[in-house]
Amino acid sequence: LMPRFIQKDTLFWRKYYHRTMNRRAILFFCLVSLSSVTGQVTYTIPEEMAKGSVIGNIAQDLGLETKRLISGKARIYTRGSDEYIELNRDRGVLLVKERIDRETLCGQTTPCALHFQVILENPMEFYSATVQITDVNDNAPTFEEIKVEFKISESAVIGSKFVLEPAVDLDVGINDLKRYELKPTDNFVLKLHNNADGNRNVEMVLQKPLDREKQEHISLVLTALDGGEPQLSGTMQIDITVLDVNDNAPVFTQPIYKTIVTENSPTGTVVSTVTASDADEGSNGKITYSIGNTDDVKRVFSINKESGQVTLIGNIDFEVSRYFQINVRASDDGGLTDSCKVMIDVQDVNDNKPEINIMSKSNLISEDAVLNTVVTMINIEDKDTGENGKVQCFVSETVPFILKSSTNNFYSLVTDSDLDRERASEYNITVTCSDEGVPSLSSSVTLTLQISDVNDNPPVFERSSYEAYTVENNTPGLSIFTVKATDSDWNQNARVSYILEDSSVNGVPVSSYVSVSADSGVIHAVRSFDYEQIKDFQFRVKAQDGGSPPLSSNVTVKIMIQDQNDNAPQVLYPVQTGGSLVAEMVPRSADVGYLVTKVVAVDVDSGQNAWLSYKLQKATDRALFEVGLQNGEVRTIRQVTDKDAVKQRLTVTVEDNGQPSRSATVIVNVAVADSFPEVLSEFTDFTHDKEYNENLTFYLVLALAVVSFLFITCVVVIISVKIYRWRQSRILYHSNLPVIPYYPPRYSDTLGTGTLPHVYNYEVCRTTDSRKSDCKFGRAGSQNVLIMDPSSTGTMQRIQSEKSILDEPDSPLEVGFVIAFLSVMLL
Ligand SMILES: *[C@@H]1O[C@H](CO)[C@@H](O)[C@H](O)[C@H]1NC(C)=O
Ligand SMILES: *[C@@H]1O[C@H](CO)[C@@H](O)[C@H](O)[C@H]1NC(C)=O
Repeated sequence: LMPRFIQKDTLFWRKYYHRTMNRRAILFFCLVSLSSVTGQVTYTIPEEMAKGSVIGNIAQDLGLETKRLISGKARIYTRGSDEYIELNRDRGVLLVKERIDRETLCGQTTPCALHFQVILENPMEFYSATVQITDVNDNAPTFEEIKVEFKISESAVIGSKFVLEPAVDLDVGINDLKRYELKPTDNFVLKLHNNADGNRNVEMVLQKPLDREKQEHISLVLTALDGGEPQLSGTMQIDITVLDVNDNAPVFTQPIYKTIVTENSPTGTVVSTVTASDADEGSNGKITYSIGNTDDVKRVFSINKESGQVTLIGNIDFEVSRYFQINVRASDDGGLTDSCKVMIDVQDVNDNKPEINIMSKSNLISEDAVLNTVVTMINIEDKDTGENGKVQCFVSETVPFILKSSTNNFYSLVTDSDLDRERASEYNITVTCSDEGVPSLSSSVTLTLQISDVNDNPPVFERSSYEAYTVENNTPGLSIFTVKATDSDWNQNARVSYILEDSSVNGVPVSSYVSVSADSGVIHAVRSFDYEQIKDFQFRVKAQDGGSPPLSSNVTVKIMIQDQNDNAPQVLYPVQTGGSLVAEMVPRSADVGYLVTKVVAVDVDSGQNAWLSYKLQKATDRALFEVGLQNGEVRTIRQVTDKDAVKQRLTVTVEDNGQPSRSATVIVNVAVADSFPEVLSEFTDFTHDKEYNENLTFYLVLALAVVSFLFITCVVVIISVKIYRWRQSRILYHSNLPVIPYYPPRYSDTLGTGTLPHVYNYEVCRTTDSRKSDCKFGRAGSQNVLIMDPSSTGTMQRIQSEKSILDEPDSPLEVGFVIAFLSVMLL
């Protein structure tokens, strides 16, 4: 038996007590056996009695005198060191010496008793005594830990058991641990198991499912109660943390989110924010948002997977899509999901310019195009809607074109007024179209239109008439002058050709005077001009363009010929004849300043070229004569004396004022004599030079032959003509045609530029055809002319009068006849 006891006790006792109790147990059984021999007292006291409390009157109970106790020096013998009880010899009672704690003394062993001996001396005797100590409920049940923690998944199934540490109550018996209570009892119940070893297992059993979302932390109190009176208890706190299980799906706050986005919003614009919540915690409640659409939506929108912010990442074009639907999915890490829709209406923005499409256009239009000629057809398109897509078009106002709207969005550009290529050969027509959006967008296109030429402008000469000067004696082919006409048309229509208009100058076609270069308008002289023959002439030049039909205009060109000093002065008087000698008579009685004669010269040039001056170049006696520089008058400058020679010879130079000047010399013979025979004798001498006479003879013979021949010819011609006229007059007797005599303009230097005091006229008579000749005539002042003929002795004086000759219609013949006759007479 003993080992069994020991074994049982050791369960709750520390080693020290363990050993002690073993010994005491042995002692106890020894005492029990002794008492039966020597008598024994037993007392029962509760534990925890106060010090000095009386346990019992041991003297009385053992039947001993108090004296004996004193004399016998009674004492208590206890094995071991702890003295709980003392003996009061005087009173003969047992007292509590030390507070007795049953639990310390005996633990769970019952009954618990203190065994000791009361030993007496003189004589020595001993008595056994036992103090039985009864339990008092002085210990509450205790848990080793006052707080335990559990982590239980909310998915734990009903009936799951959780083992709890049992409580311990040091008291025994009724005061020992009796029962447990667990509060609150919402989710768990307590279940006790009696083990085979007598211990009890305390278990907490789940009887109702946990929901972390409802209650994440559960606090339970486990109370252990003993059976004492009053009842004592101990508690243990049980903290349960409910572990989450992904038992909740995310839930969106709205099933549909609606929003409006204007097109062309910049990327990064937040369109909408979706929110879902998940009652779970941690990763089970961590929501990830995603877009569940096809790629075309994903290209435009993205969602922040954590915040649910839907942002624009692409370009929204109202013209491409006006509406988007995004399927947004929210999922937690546990894989539970929810979805919602984000409906996005795209708002139009006036972001499209009107498009101008040129359907057909002509780049060229004739300047004579009629009004309302269609030049260009235009189609307008604006992709925007509403006001943003309403388009108005117009052209810049300065062009002669207008836009006509035909049907919807179709316009035609037509001419609005007359075109003139010469005013504007090209138009840049800017068509501008703008929509009615705010702000309005517009686009424009510039059409370049060329105006083609029509030959509607004649060439125009730069001047209304031209005057040009040219110097006489030009080389034929000399370019005199250039006329120029411009034509404001274009190209061939503006190519000007110059044409000399037919006309005649003095009866001669103008083309024999000048020619015009068709291309350049340069006027060339065809012949060499002679100022003395023609001073100016005019003609018309026509400028004609190359159009079809051609247009033309004409201009008058007047050519003035300028004089050149090409004619030497011509001495009219004294007449210089080869054979005959003319001499001026000066009477010896002549005074100083006597006008001997006047050298008369003309110069057919004009102006300075005809301004003559006279000089005495050589003289037999320079002291006797002088010549008037201006007038050519030869006068005596001193009294003539008898010593002066009869024969005086003066050489007078006549010089014009041209550059270079030209001159002529004339020999003036002067006879200083009172009578004619005197003169004659003098002059005969010096004329009868021998060789001179020989020459003269030869010339006379030749002249005779010629004159005779001419005479005979004349006679024959006159007779023939007379006969012919006679026959003609008979044939045309009745026709009565008028005969208009032609008188060419007379030559007359009316300029008066020269210094000649008088007008000297000369005569050129063409003998071939008097009707066409330029016949200058005039009347020289009556002059006494002395003609000295060496072969005759008479002096002829005659007055020239050509008028009678010109009045005679047959004058050339007559003149010829007269000349011939005179020649014969001379001979
Ligand atoms: C039209 O435009 C062209 C090119 O811009 C320019 O060369 C030309 O001078 C313009 N014409 C007119 C008449 O403005
Ligand atoms: C020359 O031009 C004038 C007008 O300037 C016109 O009257 C005349 O007929 C034209 N002459 C010719 C020959 O073309």
